Amino acid sequence: MNFKGGSGKTTSAAHLAQRLALTGYRVLAIDLDPQASLTALHGVQPEFDLLDGGTLYDAIRYDDAVPITQVIRKTYIPNLDLIPGNLELMEFEHETPRALARGNAGLFFFRVKEALAQVDEQYDVVVIDCPPQLGFLTMSALSAATGVLVTIHPEMLDVMSMSQFLRMTADLMDVIADSGADMSHDWMRYLLTRYEPTDSPQNRIVAFLRTMYGDKVLNSPMLKSTAISDAGLTKQTLYEVERSAFTRTTYDRAIESLNAVNDEITQLIQKTWGR
Ligand SMILES: Nc1ncnc2c1ncn2[C@@H]1O[C@H](COP(=O)(O)OP(=O)(O)O)[C@@H](O)[C@H]1O
Ligand SMILES: [Mg+2]
Repeated sequence: MNFKGGSGKTTSAAHLAQRLALTGYRVLAIDLDPQASLTALHGVQPEFDLLDGGTLYDAIRYDDAVPITQVIRKTYIPNLDLIPGNLELMEFEHETPRALARGNAGLFFFRVKEALAQVDEQYDVVVIDCPPQLGFLTMSALSAATGVLVTIHPEMLDVMSMSQFLRMTADLMDVIADSGADMSHDWMRYLLTRYEPTDSPQNRIVAFLRTMYGDKVLNSPMLKSTAISDAGLTKQTLYEVERSAFTRTTYDRAIESLNAVNDEITQLIQKTWGR
């Protein structure tokens, strides 16, 4: 998460989910962003293929919620299932204040967690791609999460907007914690995205972030690579494209960087599991 658009949330989420699935974990990827880029990346057209619903909204709405299994679909990647998103997710942002006013929102921030509990046995890891705003969807995802990744593009304006995001998130989490919810997480890390090692202003920001946040910043950054953005143009991840479609060194550098990031996250997950 991060409320900065273009900070690499969807790219990170897609590559993490696919890498985990390709290495044998049972993974559920959830697109919680009404803009639905993660959905499109997995071959579901948010504006055509979901005319009768089918997003997580159906499973977390306040009236007539359906079992979460009804909105889970297989992807063409073994071990990877998807709950797609589209604009309908915005209904949750509109409905929650109304439900709160009526007094039947219950603990709205547990909606995602409760829905996920229904399939707890079926997945090892759930990856949630959050919308670029601090709304009820993001807060519900944060309540459901056991680990949090904040993507950060190391440029001054992005870092400033991130610190604003963190301050607002902390305030909101305090409010929710006051109502008795456990808002603690097993781990929280910053992931440097679209990093250019030869860019000296970026390097100064990275040095600053590492000094400020220490080991809360993942060691491996996600390098900026035309291989990643070009693959995105055809709605693919780097795990899907042919190596021969790129200059070898370009492809290899990008995939090494992605694997290093994803494997570092995998280690965090395994450490939490204690196995
Ligand atoms: N490591 C990268 N190298 C090159 N381009 C990237 C990289 N990560 C993301 N992009 C590109 O930047 C744009 C925004 O990334 P995206 O993951 O959609 O951000 P967000 O989900 O935070 O809005 C996309 O066009 C994507 O292809
Ligand atoms: Mg996105």
